[in-house]
This record gives sequence, C-alpha cells and structure tokens, in this order.
Amino acid sequence: MADKNKKVIQWDRRNILDLKDLSKEEIDLVLETAKSFKEVSKRDVKKVPTLRGKSVVTLFFEPSTRTRASFELAAKRLSADTINIAASQSSISKGETILDTARNLEAMNVDLIIVRHGCAGVPDELAKHLKGSVVNAGDGCRAHPTQALLDMFTIQERFGKIEGLHVGIVGDILHSRVARSNIWGLKKLGAKVTLCGPPTLMPIGIEQMGVDVSYDLNEVIEKVDVLMLLRLQRERQKDNFLPSLREYAKYFGVNKKKLSKAKKDLVIMHPGPTNRGLELSSEIADGDNSLILDQVTNGVAVRMAILYLLLGTKT
Ligand code: CP
Repeated sequence: MADKNKKVIQWDRRNILDLKDLSKEEIDLVLETAKSFKEVSKRDVKKVPTLRGKSVVTLFFEPSTRTRASFELAAKRLSADTINIAASQSSISKGETILDTARNLEAMNVDLIIVRHGCAGVPDELAKHLKGSVVNAGDGCRAHPTQALLDMFTIQERFGKIEGLHVGIVGDILHSRVARSNIWGLKKLGAKVTLCGPPTLMPIGIEQMGVDVSYDLNEVIEKVDVLMLLRLQRERQKDNFLPSLREYAKYFGVNKKKLSKAKKDLVIMHPGPTNRGLELSSEIADGDNSLILDQVTNGVAVRMAILYLLLGTKT
C-alpha cells in the first residue's frame, strides 16, 4: 500500500553542485531511483535507451579513477554519448579559460558537463553561465555530492535505513569534500555524525554543522554503526599538519585490534583511493566488514540516477 505521508516530489533541479542545496526528499528520490538502475548493471547487456541522443562530457582538472569511470559507465549504460576531457591535454593548457572551454563544449550541443576542480566553486561558476546541466565531481575541499549520495545509498542498502544510525567519519576532515557532503546528506536523513581525527586536521567550528567531535578513535569505534575512513590528502597539505605518518597510523589508522570493541555489524567505508597501512590495514580493507567495493559498484547506479533525473525527465 502507498505511504500516504510520503511527500511526492517533482525533480526540477538543473544541476547538482552541493548536498547543502538538496532537500531530504530530493536525496530520497535519487536513492530510490538508483535502486532501479542498480539492476541494469547486473544484466548481460548493461544498457537501456533512456538517454539516447544526449551528450555528456567529463571535464577533470584533478586525477580520478572511480568518479570519472563510473560517470562514463553510467552515461554509456543509459545510451548517452560521452567524451572525457583531461584538462592537462586540452586547450586549457594553451591559456583558454575554463569557462571558454565549457562554452565551446556547449556550442557543440553538449547537454551535461561533469567537472572536477581543485578550487571550490568552479562547478557553481560554470552552472551560472551555461544553459545545460553541471554536476560537481569534487571541488577543492568543499563538496563531492555524488560520492556522498553513493555512500548513503550503500549505508541504506546494508541497514535498510539511515535515520537513527551513528556514523563516524575519521581522518583528514579539514581537507575532505567527502566529509562535508556526507555531513550535509547524513544529517538531512536523520543520522548522528561524529567526526574523529587529529586536532590539526579538524576544522575550527565544525560542530556548527550539527556533528560531534572526538579525538579518540577507540571511543568512537565502540559507539558507531558505520566507520567512514578518509584519505589523508597529502597533496592539499601545504603545512606540517602531522608529526609523522607513523603517528597518524598509530592513533587514527584502523586495524583488527582496534575493531575488537566495535559493534558486531559495524561496517567500514572509504571513498578511495585508500592508503593501505596508513588509514586502514589490508585485513580491514579486504575484510568481511568492508563495504569499500560495494560503494564503487553503487556509484554507477547512483550516477545513472543522477543523469536520468537531470536529463531524462525533461521533455
Ligand atoms: N572517491 C573518489 O572521488 O575517487 P576518485 O578520486 O578515484 O574519483
């Protein structure tokens, strides 16, 4: 029987830039839509005609394995045409501005641009000037909305819910767009969030986002249902935030011994790429509690849902 209390929403968003902007209902709609697309990737012929005739470009200014490949697979599985542009090999390296590059792509009637950039706000700036859709695939330390959506999908798939769960996010919070997007999303869906990491990698005033902060990983491990580990982003660390990597691994790296007091059904997540031996040991990364590869699998379904909602629902 249909749930009469469930708010039915119309998707009228042109871009996905930050989960700060999305309502709970919009997040729910993405996660619900992704469920039906997950089945497509299990078929022998992993393709549906939903976005036939649409064109999608990935424009990446930073390295990526998961996000770029899964957006490309998602678009291809929906029958859209795709082009990948690595900024280092494009005319941007000859002095063209990002906006001019994007406008030239739009002049070729591209429908959607997926952009990753080291500076916060670049996707928003493109969205302001383009007629087509823009999806943020990670901008600086600010937002990685599609990563958080696939993380929430994976949590919901495992626990059947997000509301009431306790999620610990561990590591380099200061530089993490994944942490910020997950905080926005998880709080909207009713989870409790505790952040944990060295004081030097904890943004001042982050509690204002409605999260708890702890500097003791052992204390956090005992309480949480989900332990989301973050990559130590050494490329963004201009100063000496840590005395040594060995010390980081000792206090904030997760290994089997530290998990001995965890809840039985605790799950380990990591957006990747992982630094084995630093953020987590191999036995944890590859262990029964790890959802790391499930996150990657679900990334395709969630990105199919996003492309469908942005491009496939308009006439
Ligand atoms: N999680 C994530 O964004 O991975 P990539 O950098 O490989 O895209």
